[in-house]
Amino acid sequence: MPASPPYLGTLRRLDQVIRPRTYIEVGVDRGWSLAASTADVRVGIDPDPHPDLPTVTTDTPDIDEIIDRGPGSAWLVRRRSDDAAGALHDLLKRRRAQFAFVDGLHLADQVIRDIAMLRTFTGRDAIFALHDVIPIQGGMSRLPPRRRDQAWTGDVWRVVPTLAAMGVDVVVDPVPPSGLAIFRRPDTFDRDAALRLLTIRTRVTATWSEALDQVMSSALMVDDHLIADFVAAKVRRTGAKSGDT
Ligand SMILES: C[S@@+](CC[C@H](N)C(=O)[O-])C[C@H]1O[C@@H](n2cnc3c(N)ncnc32)[C@H](O)[C@@H]1O
Repeated sequence: MPASPPYLGTLRRLDQVIRPRTYIEVGVDRGWSLAASTADVRVGIDPDPHPDLPTVTTDTPDIDEIIDRGPGSAWLVRRRSDDAAGALHDLLKRRRAQFAFVDGLHLADQVIRDIAMLRTFTGRDAIFALHDVIPIQGGMSRLPPRRRDQAWTGDVWRVVPTLAAMGVDVVVDPVPPSGLAIFRRPDTFDRDAALRLLTIRTRVTATWSEALDQVMSSALMVDDHLIADFVAAKVRRTGAKSGDT
């Protein structure tokens, strides 16, 4: 891996605080964020992954098969997140994740659907992190054509004010290159209501400064050292250690 992107440092700090037994993420690519987790069972969902770590790729592995591959291995579900629930169900229905990371297709409505899907496979007090909530260039607060050769944060920023409007406490770490939003798994999450709110509260065509204003006014901004304290306080407050249901 080239020089480690700073957001991986925040993910590692969160991992140390949460100490998840099971970690799940949407969007694997080279597997950098997957490798930042120390969970016994790590699950990545991506239709086109290129990870640099040992993986199990059958659709129905058992837990022992994943763990037996040794430290550093992970289960890859080679599907779009919208099509992954069936494969995830058998393995994770009794082993919910305590930490979920969303970093797949950078469209706000997809991120809402990913949160709803991951909620099904996470325990009551799980922590969620979303990547790319701060658009890295003016044009990226809108929806330019997607190019694989460019960093592209899409309109993921719109999810932060939407979650806040639903009563979810969101903190944003403005860590380079494009920020992380962190929140505790909502007790309830009406996906269709969230998609409606997304349209009502935020505009795809917002300018960059409007987008930043909306993210900053609807979340607590903290630096990456305080993030771990925030999560630790949440974990203590809810009495959660494992997050299992
Ligand atoms: C930014 S990369 C992920 C980087 C990775 N999380 C990391 O930090 O190293 C985004 C990945 O999302 C995947 N992706 C795109 N659309 C997706 C979808 N609908 N469901 C799941 N993954 C998707 C792409 O194939 C790509 O590998």
